[in-house]
Amino acid sequence: MEHPRWALDDVDVEHPSPARVYDYYLGGSHNFVVDRQLAHRAMDLWPELPLIMRANRAFLRRSVRYLVQQGITQFLDIGSGIPTQGNVHEIAQAVSPQSRVIYVDRDPVAVAHSRAMLSGNSLADVIPADLCDPEAIFNDPRTRRLLDLDQPIGLLMVMMLHFVPDEAAPANIVARYREMMAPGSCLVISHASHEGRPDQAGPHTELYRRAGTPMIMRSRQEVEALFDGFDLVPPGVVFLPQWRPDSPADVDDHPERFTCYAAVGRRG
Ligand SMILES: C[S@@+](CC[C@H](N)C(=O)[O-])C[C@H]1O[C@@H](n2cnc3c(N)ncnc32)[C@H](O)[C@@H]1O
Repeated sequence: MEHPRWALDDVDVEHPSPARVYDYYLGGSHNFVVDRQLAHRAMDLWPELPLIMRANRAFLRRSVRYLVQQGITQFLDIGSGIPTQGNVHEIAQAVSPQSRVIYVDRDPVAVAHSRAMLSGNSLADVIPADLCDPEAIFNDPRTRRLLDLDQPIGLLMVMMLHFVPDEAAPANIVARYREMMAPGSCLVISHASHEGRPDQAGPHTELYRRAGTPMIMRSRQEVEALFDGFDLVPPGVVFLPQWRPDSPADVDDHPERFTCYAAVGRRG
């Protein structure tokens, strides 16, 4: 396949990447033919996928605003993805202009576009890193420059932990972050689940597995377990549109069709 001119040399254009497929669901243009092929196969099976991704971005917006209203003005956004409308620093700085954000992703396209978006921005930066190495992320000079880790932070793992297999023990990884976060810090998670749409979950996970981008849908109980050591902020673990909607009218009659859980927890 031809390597598009805007792509970096180290970008794999032969295999789909979760970051670029997600970008396509959201209407972005930083994706390749292989990504669009997977997205179209997935949408043929499950036409509501773009709606679910938009509901996820709406949850991200509400949760970041909520955290800023609670006094948290520094954020670590892990698995931040390719920049799109309403990035975390834009949401937070609209409420509190001095808010600082470190974005982290392992996907080179996500990192390159985040870097371009943030050039000249002294209050936000991006680190190429893997979730599984919290020590490297916390000790990175960019994190040290922008975040005061003795003060509460907002740790975001939005729509990304379902790419972490059970063998990698995601709950243990989250616990390592918890131990490094100051009391009062908050953890924000959204996570795909089979529970809202068991009919769609099987074929979807099988498609992603065959495409080489496996994802693991988890139950409400498993998502709750990720918050071990955190106090869940009401309403707890709920489907995306049910988490503190701006208006009751925003909640779909069938919130389970979004089949992704969302929650925020506070480290006491
Ligand atoms: C579906 S996107 C979510 C983007 C953004 N958080 C959102 O909710 O809009 C998932 C992102 O997680 C990243 N990701 C997956 N596993 C990761 C890991 N182990 N370490 C760092 N990033 C990871 C992918 O590269 C991708 O950009």
